[in-house]
Amino acid sequence: MDVFSRNIIIAIDGPAGSGKSSAARLLAQKLGCLYLDTGALYRAVGWKAMQDGMDLQDAAALKTLCAGLDLSVRPDGNGMKVFVDGRDVSGEIRTPEVSRAAAAVAAVPVVRQRLLRIQREVGEKAGGQGGVVVEGRDIGTVVFPDAPVKFFLEASPEVRVERRHAELRQQGLAADLSATRREIDTRDLKDANREIAPLKPAGDAIRIDSTALTLDGVVSEMMAVIERKRSGNAD
Ligand code: DC
Repeated sequence: MDVFSRNIIIAIDGPAGSGKSSAARLLAQKLGCLYLDTGALYRAVGWKAMQDGMDLQDAAALKTLCAGLDLSVRPDGNGMKVFVDGRDVSGEIRTPEVSRAAAAVAAVPVVRQRLLRIQREVGEKAGGQGGVVVEGRDIGTVVFPDAPVKFFLEASPEVRVERRHAELRQQGLAADLSATRREIDTRDLKDANREIAPLKPAGDAIRIDSTALTLDGVVSEMMAVIERKRSGNAD
């Protein structure tokens, strides 16, 4: 492998339901890279704040939570597991309640600062381990602004709601379609309008609309971009 592929950080951003998690996992598998789902970190903080019965907007309480936060991630097959205080919370953080809590705590600067450090530590370690595919909302803009390859995934609102709904059903978290639509709408608004690190494409991100694409189709487009960059034919 060349230097580019050995140390590569690939940033994938996009809104809920854009297909970025599935694409990031498959891409990491194809490249033999680590996979980092940064939304899971925000979910873990939201989950912990809920467990502690905290007001999710209480910056002082969240500061204390972050100071004592024992949060770690571990690769798991093609995915990733998340631990809080040594407990595997990977399943528990997927509920709609935790989605809401994650979007709320993600707007609090002290939470973002704490998680920024964790994300960059993983990125640094990944340099010696075949690189990393990192997905989230601000990866190409804030966390790894120098990443050599950045993607921004989009999809129509209808398709995003359908995907999120299917994901919840698959996890046994039956939700009706209108509740899922409300969840996505509320989170989109929060994620795109918060003052700090809002969801937006990096200037040098390659945008992919996944509305009419299969997962393989999305990842093929990504692989083609990476191959072009590798061979030095990038724009
Ligand atoms: O990707 P996800 O749906 O699991 O993310 C959950 C929430 O975490 C999302 O609504 C906003 C927040 N988040 C963020 O603010 N920045 C990131 N890099 C990743 C997620």
